[in-house]
Amino acid sequence: MKSASPSPGYTGCVVQVSSPYDAIAGVYDEHWGHEFFPHAMEAFDRHAAPLLAPGAAVLDLCCGSGLFAGWLDDQGFTVTGVDLSGAMLATARRRAPRGTFVQADMAAFTLPARFDAAVCWFNSLNHAMSPRHLRAVLLNVAGHMTRGASFLFDYVLPRAYRRDWASTAMVEGAGRRRRIQFRYDPAARQAVCETGEGVIVQQPFPPATIRRAAVAAGFDLLWEGPMEGAEPAGGRRLVLAVRG
Ligand SMILES: C[S@@+](CC[C@H](N)C(=O)[O-])C[C@H]1O[C@@H](n2cnc3c(N)ncnc32)[C@H](O)[C@@H]1O
Repeated sequence: MKSASPSPGYTGCVVQVSSPYDAIAGVYDEHWGHEFFPHAMEAFDRHAAPLLAPGAAVLDLCCGSGLFAGWLDDQGFTVTGVDLSGAMLATARRRAPRGTFVQADMAAFTLPARFDAAVCWFNSLNHAMSPRHLRAVLLNVAGHMTRGASFLFDYVLPRAYRRDWASTAMVEGAGRRRRIQFRYDPAARQAVCETGEGVIVQQPFPPATIRRAAVAAGFDLLWEGPMEGAEPAGGRRLVLAVRG
């Protein structure tokens, strides 16, 4: 178990948290993070950046190892990253030294800032544990945004989890070789990733569940479409929501 060390400005209590991403943070950064990053940059440049003033405050929810946060920082945005994994955040802090990083659940962080934009990349919203948790996440994000601020996120469709979430990868990295297994559990209706040191579970939320949760939280859905080029082919959606 790790003790969270909140960044300045974090007003929540100090909690004991651990994440299955802690043990694979190095491997994640070397392999998967880089895979998605170009798609995130492209989507942000197209949908969010044109609406933002220089230095605008951007929340990177589930920021992981901070590839995107570091890029935002380089672009001159004021970046705040939230993630549950202390090990992922340690890398993110090195990547974006001017950023603020908070270790917290995506539904439970409490920050004094109001953001001009927010992002949540690489099916991180699918990491919400239930539709109820998802609704709490969206409410919390909305509560931290200014009116008119855009929230850009992607998610993976249920049919893509059912069809594509089945593989085994031998992955070298962070000093060892790991067998990582991806499988879809039809009984639990969950996508599972077994890392050997933990289990990462994702929820195949139907589009209607995500849209309802966003609207209930006070977002207007401005645009939704396929996230072209990003895996799984034809199974990833990109959503632009605006805080009403
Ligand atoms: C697939 S990774 C994506 C990381 C990053 N957004 C990227 O594009 O590389 C999912 C991230 O969500 C974080 N995460 C999972 N559940 C979370 C929760 N309940 N609250 C906050 N972060 C969470 C994980 O620690 C991990 O860094």
